[in-house]
Amino acid sequence: MLLCQITDLHITRPGMLACGRVDTARALRNAIATINRWTPRPDAVIATGDLIDTPHLSEYEVLRACLADLEIPLYLGVGNHDHREGLRDAFPEHAYLHTNDTFVQYRADLGPLTVLTLDTQDPPSAGGHLCEARLAWLDAQLHACEGRPTIIAMHHPPFDTGIEFMDGYGLSAAGRAGFAQVVSQHRHIERVICGHLHRSIHASVEGAPGIMASTCVSTAHQITLGLAAGAPGSVTLEPPGFAMHLWQPGAGVRTHLAYVGPHAGPFSFDGEPR
Ligand SMILES: [Fe+2]
Ligand SMILES: [Fe+2]
Repeated sequence: MLLCQITDLHITRPGMLACGRVDTARALRNAIATINRWTPRPDAVIATGDLIDTPHLSEYEVLRACLADLEIPLYLGVGNHDHREGLRDAFPEHAYLHTNDTFVQYRADLGPLTVLTLDTQDPPSAGGHLCEARLAWLDAQLHACEGRPTIIAMHHPPFDTGIEFMDGYGLSAAGRAGFAQVVSQHRHIERVICGHLHRSIHASVEGAPGIMASTCVSTAHQITLGLAAGAPGSVTLEPPGFAMHLWQPGAGVRTHLAYVGPHAGPFSFDGEPR
């Protein structure tokens, strides 16, 4: 089972650039072309939020046009830049988006693997939250899929990253505590996969050290790796990419970071083209 994760697409309206510099629709088309060519083909693609940028609802139309090129089953989740109703309206045929009236939360069974997508949006804040209702849903779903290897997908990661600027827009303290309390009751969680950081970061779930969580690079622009105290927030045009979460029986989930080109190679170890 190969699950591809794309995140923080930040799709803008035609002619608009994200952060004044990035053609995010073009970046997404490049990522999709790379993913479509991948061998073996991923079983599914999941997008962990910040699908659009401002949010301006017409951005979902651009997103829809870009995603039409994807040849693989797709699951969408929301981030702080998204609009729940706008997303549902733009993707009426995505039945899983319409299973919960309030939050964009759903269960997807992908062969032997279950994915539970959580909604951490807390408008108008750029930070995230998990209220009692969302946590109760998660707990009930984890009970319902007990025994199945499970990935939880959510936008805001359940840990501090050390990038102060972004940690200021993190998951609320109450949301983290509640999340740790729920997930620590369950033994079948393979991984928590997140977005929001526009970087690849791996850590334990805060308060549940036995459970591994990760964030993923954006398909567009990245957040500067500013680990100095008080470092101002900024973006960089480091390479875009996506994650490949490979699950196999007895081995669990292994996460591979892949970059979107152009880049040279592959070459043999003698330097010959492969
Ligand atoms: Fe983002
Ligand atoms: Fe975000």
